[in-house]
Amino acid sequence: MTDDQPHWRNAKRPEPFYVKSVAPIRAINREEREQALQQANNNLFNLSSPDIFIDLLTDSGTGAMSHHQWAALMHGDEAYAGSMSFSRFKDTVTDLFGYDYVLPTHQGRSAELILMTHFVKPGNYVPNNIHFDTTSAHVQYQKAYDVNLVVDEVYDWDSEFPFKGNMDLNKLEAFLKENGDQVPLVCLTVTCNSGGGQPVSISNIRAVKAICKKYNKPLFLDAARVIENAYFNLMRDPACRDMSIRDILHETTRHADGMWMSAKKDGLVNIGGFIAVRSPEHYEALRMYEILFDGFCTYGGMAGRDMEALAVGLKECVDEAYLEHRTGQVAHLNCLLRDAGVRTTWPPGGHAVYVDGRDFCPHIPDEQYPAQSLSLALYLEAGVRAVEIGIILRGRDPDDGENRYEGLDLVRLAIPRRMYSFTQLEYVAEALIELKKDASKIRGVRLAKETPMLRHFTSEFAWV
Ligand code: F0G
Repeated sequence: MTDDQPHWRNAKRPEPFYVKSVAPIRAINREEREQALQQANNNLFNLSSPDIFIDLLTDSGTGAMSHHQWAALMHGDEAYAGSMSFSRFKDTVTDLFGYDYVLPTHQGRSAELILMTHFVKPGNYVPNNIHFDTTSAHVQYQKAYDVNLVVDEVYDWDSEFPFKGNMDLNKLEAFLKENGDQVPLVCLTVTCNSGGGQPVSISNIRAVKAICKKYNKPLFLDAARVIENAYFNLMRDPACRDMSIRDILHETTRHADGMWMSAKKDGLVNIGGFIAVRSPEHYEALRMYEILFDGFCTYGGMAGRDMEALAVGLKECVDEAYLEHRTGQVAHLNCLLRDAGVRTTWPPGGHAVYVDGRDFCPHIPDEQYPAQSLSLALYLEAGVRAVEIGIILRGRDPDDGENRYEGLDLVRLAIPRRMYSFTQLEYVAEALIELKKDASKIRGVRLAKETPMLRHFTSEFAWV
């Protein structure tokens, strides 16, 4: 890489691991895919995995574990209370993130249920850069409002601003000034999944903390991809150039009162999560709900063996060679598409490539869900499963019941960790580039059956 090239160019590097065990996949033909999609009522969540060739639905719980993780499973201590697997897992979390109190949960959203039940009352507002959909749903489940205060750069397709996940400090300050008495906590999602997997800078986290301190609000990190976020700070912020990933992680979490993590991402495991906090008061209060909703506080919905694999996975994730390869896969796919004229969120984010549905399908109006339509067309074209992160996912405004059209309408190609080769990702790029040549043939869709909450998982669609 030359000095004048950004780090996301020339990202195709040899894997820092070799393949030890394989699972076969096969592409079914076009006619079979049409049949499968019809049976799935045009919702990609309803497909069976044998009908999918490359599955980029999510990077959550879909990655490959290392042989050290598989070996660690055998050390699982399955004691209901006081498990040694919990101790090892807790020590790893404290070592990496600096929090003394750790509550295991079965995944990210159960952590959200515990946190929001404790903090949020009806009529409250919870600010975030952009809430992930389960976080929004948990805020709304408490009859409160989720408020997104991300920087405007995230909506500028061509800006090369390196930290588009940042909270807009002016918006946050103004919001707290106006509504401070109705805000029980401030959250920050690192990296910002619904904004294109874009990173949040350390200086932004520091500044958000200063505002929270002024208004006396606790700050919690939604830290599902906090280690990828640390790597972006290393690569994109000259002030971090001489720091290790561990140093940057400490600098990230030092400013927050607590974090929760869906460990299915940067934990490099198939299931798991946790809440970690600094104060014994938060711990005591949250522990009560943990026991009520998820399990006793030394397992919280995870088996001892799962906590063992997670402790090893977290340590593997902070390896710079791993992170270079991981973010390099995302960057490579993103650059292939951008260079061929497919509009993607830019610069490349952490765990996925996000394609602009509206730009790809300018003939499809918002009322016919361009990104949802494109994700179905991509499956039919190449057996690739992506996911809509846009109008369908945002759902309806709780007050007036209208679709939330404002904001991005994206197709997300999420890349599972350590699973697919560069060649498989190049196949995905070729499929999309091919599809773009005849994009005007892609048909819009309408909602044939709509479910009230988290509708993208369970709704059904019909071609218009
Ligand atoms: N927070 C963020 C930022 C997430 O991306 C997710 C999950 C969650 C919380 C919830 O965690 O799934 O373990 O309950 N994201 C997945 C995705 C589902 O596909 O992006 P969970």
